[in-house]
Amino acid sequence: MKIAVIGGGSTYTPELVDGLIDRWRDLGLDELVLYDINPERMGVVADFCRRMAKRRDAGFEIVETTSLEDAVRDAGFVLTQIRVGGQEARHRDITLGLKYGLVGQETVGVGGFAKALRTIPEMLKICEVAEQLAPQTCIVNFTNPSGIITEAIVNHSNLKCVGLCNIPIEIQILIARFMGAEPEDVELDYIGLNHLGWIRRVSLKGQDITGRLFDMFLGGELPANIPDLDYDPWLIKAIGMFPTYYLRYYFYPGRIVQQLKAKPKTRAEEVMEIERRLLDIYRDPNRAEKPPELSERGGAFYSVIAVLVIESVHKDLGRTLIVNTKNAGAIPDLPDDCAVEVPSRVDADGAHALYCGPLPEKVKGLVQSVKAYERLTIQAAVNGDYDAALCALMTNPLGPTAENAKELLDELLTINGLWSRFGGER
Ligand code: G6P
Repeated sequence: MKIAVIGGGSTYTPELVDGLIDRWRDLGLDELVLYDINPERMGVVADFCRRMAKRRDAGFEIVETTSLEDAVRDAGFVLTQIRVGGQEARHRDITLGLKYGLVGQETVGVGGFAKALRTIPEMLKICEVAEQLAPQTCIVNFTNPSGIITEAIVNHSNLKCVGLCNIPIEIQILIARFMGAEPEDVELDYIGLNHLGWIRRVSLKGQDITGRLFDMFLGGELPANIPDLDYDPWLIKAIGMFPTYYLRYYFYPGRIVQQLKAKPKTRAEEVMEIERRLLDIYRDPNRAEKPPELSERGGAFYSVIAVLVIESVHKDLGRTLIVNTKNAGAIPDLPDDCAVEVPSRVDADGAHALYCGPLPEKVKGLVQSVKAYERLTIQAAVNGDYDAALCALMTNPLGPTAENAKELLDELLTINGLWSRFGGER
């Protein structure tokens, strides 16, 4: 069994390899191919991963390539984790947002929008190559904004695709720790979109424990990349569901913009520093263990969900996992062909969203607006549709109004060099 990692030079890759080393025998993994457009960086990461595998006697081969064709050919899984434009583009997205008093985070607000415009065409090119050389493969997508990218793939390619995010599994693991239990005993009744998820109910071995988790959700520790800001207790009580981490951006955009403006560095600059340190560690020939510094990144536990999904598809296990996949009626208030993040049955045919029922009225408007924004963004990226891009920005609850949407979009297209895709500067 061969797994290809597109964006294999990511400093996150050792996290993934750590998870694969734990489970390679069960997965029947023979070969892990790393592909990247930056061979130097990939070389450092690949050497480190090989030392990790050797230290733990893992019997699969780790190879590196700069040929996309060689990477995906006959791969059982193609895991995508690319960042078009690198952290520099992420930095520009954040500062552009702040210039307009808006959130420019890499997945929500104008940052997520810019990242989607840069990324969708590149991801669809990768899928085209995979369709030719590994038509049976399953794309396991981590590329952000994960929900939007997954929707673009499921509607514009013929490949199986499961879209992933570390947040649902992270919450499940943290609840288990909080309760002194095992993660597999915790079940989340979860509904929503990527980075717009809600927890309706939590059960532990079938027992409803939702009420006991209030404090954990209010004041718990946050992923390293999310501004430190607690939900107001009255907010959670009024809605009657637990909002996941990223909903902070929708409920407190003003406070978050203030916090971000006061910070000396953007998250992109912080990550660039963390990455420099990580690469130094990876270069050290005496190091062969996943370094604790990796936990300074936001993507904790991403290998856990990746391995669970790969195993469930490969062995046709039919596990229930919270992933991004085609709605197909699971949430009747959303289009059938859109991507949702919900508990899904994961088997050899990919992920099948389980029926959730209608969106609770209290959050329906927000979720539908964000979904409309996401669909307009895909339309804009796939067709180079300038008007769709403008409407996408204005539909996003964290986006600009007509007062400066056009100015913002024009600046965004200029700094990202994207005008040629949108029919030239106007
Ligand atoms: C979380 C999100 C991911 C995101 C990551 C960013 O895990 O779920 O979508 O990529 O944080 O982490 P970073 O360390 O790059 O800020």
